[in-house]
Amino acid sequence: MAKKQLMPWFNTVRPKYERVMKNSMSFQIIGTGSAYPVCIKTNDELSQLVDTTDEWISSRTGIKSRHISTTESLSELAVTAAKQALEDANVKSEELSLIICATIQGDYVTPSLACVVQKEIGAKCPAFDVNAACSGFIYGLDIALGYYERKKADKVLIIAAETMSKHVNWKDRATCVLFGDGAGAVVLSAGDGLVAIKTTASGATDILTIPGRTGNNPFSEPKAIDDYLYMNGPEVFKFAVTSMCRDLKDVIAAAGLTETEIDMVLPHQANLKIIEGAMNRLKIPEEKYYGNIEHSGNISAASIPILLDELNKAGLIKKGFKLALSSFGGGLTSAACVIKWNKEAVQK
Ligand SMILES: CC(C)(COP(=O)(O)OP(=O)(O)OC[C@H]1O[C@@H](n2cnc3c(N)ncnc32)[C@H](O)[C@@H]1OP(=O)(O)O)[C@@H](O)C(=O)NCCC(=O)NCCS
Repeated sequence: MAKKQLMPWFNTVRPKYERVMKNSMSFQIIGTGSAYPVCIKTNDELSQLVDTTDEWISSRTGIKSRHISTTESLSELAVTAAKQALEDANVKSEELSLIICATIQGDYVTPSLACVVQKEIGAKCPAFDVNAACSGFIYGLDIALGYYERKKADKVLIIAAETMSKHVNWKDRATCVLFGDGAGAVVLSAGDGLVAIKTTASGATDILTIPGRTGNNPFSEPKAIDDYLYMNGPEVFKFAVTSMCRDLKDVIAAAGLTETEIDMVLPHQANLKIIEGAMNRLKIPEEKYYGNIEHSGNISAASIPILLDELNKAGLIKKGFKLALSSFGGGLTSAACVIKWNKEAVQK
């Protein structure tokens, strides 16, 4: 039987490179938090804005409603999620060694969202953002792993926060119905919770894209651009199912586990049909998949940590459970990991 790898790490996009570290420190999740904007918009309400129906949206995506920022800034959502995660972990902000925010865009281009959060919670540690679109949270975990391996971190706060409502064209029925806003956060401490992790990128600007601002440089011709989210839905769909199947198989194998040994799968919440497509191709039993897309929509990087927090608060994640996380999105990026849950289940 193949010897169990304690902490394999690999990346299949660059020339295949595998690193197996034994007796080395990784991290464990010791607290979770999340925040949604108060405003909820149902499919029926969106059907008053664009030519769509609840039946079309829910049958193709599983989404029934989503939260939309009206009065809350992205920073406020991120801070609320961060404070909850710190409280759940019983960690004070002064104890943090690092803050990473996963977001496609904070409230400012600079300072980073992580720096804004750092100020608001009174932390003193380094803080920066990572943009890997919907895969940003797992990319953040992978970056944190590097800090633990170099013994440069004790307690780490990772937040993923997105206001997708700012980036979609509310006149485009093909995209505006799919997304939502919110923030999720975790606090990490040194431990053996991260068992295997993988990140991939495959640069493409014509499949899922949000153009940046052009500015008003007087020395160049201004370009007329549509600066809203553009997506080739069917192409993204194929990419999502393929990468989710491949990445989950890779990290589960790297963890020395079989698919049936996974206790919970937390997939990126983009579309229920994508999850079903992967489910049909994997051997992980259906009842092990968890989701919240019905009430959240696609919140990009924040999808998985919000789901994680909802499951944690519901007391559904038992100590010792092996969780498989999988995400995919703009970039195109994808990422997956296997995490052993070392925290006592919340008593209900
Ligand atoms: C977006 C998605 C749900 C579209 O589903 P689909 O079955 O592929 O639908 P199509 O794009 O083929 O469009 C079918 C028709 O529905 C129409 N349509 C699109 N959005 C609609 C809406 N909200 N309401 C009603 N009709 C809609 C289209 O205009 C098209 O009409 P036409 O045939 O007359 O041209 C699907 O492609 C998808 O989920 N892709 C992945 C998206 C994703 O998850 N992105 C984020 C990844 S992080």
